[in-house]
Amino acid sequence: MSYITAVFWQIEINAPKEHAAEIEEFFLKSGAQSTFELLYEEGRTSNLIEDNTQLFFFFAENFPARAFAPMALATLGFADLEFKISQVQYADYLKEFEKSFRAFALTQKTALVPPWDAENADIGPGFKKLWLVPGMAFGTGKHATTQLMVEFIEKTIRPSDTVIDIGSGSGILAIAAMLWGAASAWGVDVETLAVESAAANKTLNEERHGAAFACEFAVGDFSTLHERTIDRANTVFLANILPNIFEANAADLKFALANCRAWALSGIPSAQEESFTAFLKTIAPGSFEIRTKEDWQIYFCQNSL
Ligand SMILES: C[S@@+](CC[C@H](N)C(=O)[O-])C[C@H]1O[C@@H](n2cnc3c(N)ncnc32)[C@H](O)[C@@H]1O
Repeated sequence: MSYITAVFWQIEINAPKEHAAEIEEFFLKSGAQSTFELLYEEGRTSNLIEDNTQLFFFFAENFPARAFAPMALATLGFADLEFKISQVQYADYLKEFEKSFRAFALTQKTALVPPWDAENADIGPGFKKLWLVPGMAFGTGKHATTQLMVEFIEKTIRPSDTVIDIGSGSGILAIAAMLWGAASAWGVDVETLAVESAAANKTLNEERHGAAFACEFAVGDFSTLHERTIDRANTVFLANILPNIFEANAADLKFALANCRAWALSGIPSAQEESFTAFLKTIAPGSFEIRTKEDWQIYFCQNSL
């Protein structure tokens, strides 16, 4: 396996769970290239960490991480939180990550399998295997927001569907859509590293499943939606990002929700249900449903033709 050879700043913060979304939002807005949250105790795929959570943020080598971290936490009113800053080589980071990241049931029907745990790939009868190296991109499959999306994909995808995934991260949702029978999928992300990781994951799945996946990844944001054909017969629109990003892209989002067969938006903290529902009512063409898991929500709908 070949690894990217970049160097990054890693900021690790031990934070109460109820403040995780707020800290993530602030660090991402401040230029974090990537983030993930350790939801389980080291080396486990069950045993949810109950109260505190470990947040990891990655910044480019030229970012003033040592000065930024204490200032950012003080600005948010969390000056007393413990944090660690280190410089990491991507290759070293990935080797460390491999030790604790193992195959697990992403949902009741989809298994997530990293290539270094192929001998434990058979999670149970009937599971589809989604092969993945998350690397530094968001989309390890451990987060409830991703799991809610994969459950939506399992129930929704039809063989004629084209899937659009904005904020594709590791490529996990677009690849899940292909596994569950979509005709094609297209993912975009603002992070170059995420796009590289998604493309590598597509190739990994093609190799392991012995089939070509009609799935593409590119750098882009909501504005790139207008470069695609979106139709009410076959397009399924997916985005797992944060509420403030949906709100900042309201016009493009409104266009997507009105012109697709089905849609799902994830990444909404339960605490924001009232405000996000009010926002969505101003842009969604009809009624929608909500599901909740571990304080996170997915909003979804099948548009009638
Ligand atoms: C929560 S992660 C979701 C990753 C993956 N799709 C999943 O469901 O696990 C959100 C992703 O959206 C990307 N992102 C943030 N703002 C974006 C924007 N305006 N347009 C496109 N991607 C964006 C981030 O870089 C990140 O990879």
